[in-house]
Amino acid sequence: MKIFIDTANIQEIRQANSWGFLDGVTTNPSLIAATKRTFREVVEEICAEITGPVNVEVVAKDVPGMVREGRELAKIANNIVLKIPMTPPGIQATRQLSGEGIKVNITLVFSPLQALLAAKAGASYASPFIGRLDDISHTGMDLISDIVTIYNNYAFPTEIIVASIRHPLHVLDAARIGAGICTIPLKVIEQMFKHPLTDIGLEKFLKDWEKIPKSS
Ligand code: E4P
Repeated sequence: MKIFIDTANIQEIRQANSWGFLDGVTTNPSLIAATKRTFREVVEEICAEITGPVNVEVVAKDVPGMVREGRELAKIANNIVLKIPMTPPGIQATRQLSGEGIKVNITLVFSPLQALLAAKAGASYASPFIGRLDDISHTGMDLISDIVTIYNNYAFPTEIIVASIRHPLHVLDAARIGAGICTIPLKVIEQMFKHPLTDIGLEKFLKDWEKIPKSS
């Protein structure tokens, strides 16, 4: 499984990158707004930090606007991936931009058929938002199972980015299903390291180490 971090905060990205397993970054307008910095400044800094895909969202709503904005964003760095919303114009723009060799991640996917359309449009990635489905009492992880099945049935090359992850169990279940990518907030990545028996075991080993004679 590839691990992306879901943030626009450069300190968080650097922290996750320092562990050596970070495969990419996802941002969205809300995450960029939380930095209180300009869009351009944030995106350029992230692209300089990370060699893997850096997902940035277009905000135009019509096809010509999305294509124009997408082409401009793609010029920022060669690891830019465009996040385009799951709308009819979004799907049309994706077909066009993908045809030009620009990578697209269809975002705000909430149903298996939306994911099917994303794959048909030639999107490199589709982002189902599982936490937001859980929030409205739908089992978000069922969506991931359905999309994995559909993409496998037809050998679609579109990669699934499990998004809107709220806790480590989301990552565990996504891994069991075999989803290709999880985009995870730093807090949840940190939780993935943790087990109380690791802490207790380490403390005991270090205490016992002190009991070992240091010279004969
Ligand atoms: C994914 O690319 C989105 O940025 C993100 O996962 C949305 O998560 P949220 O539902 O916690 O806002």
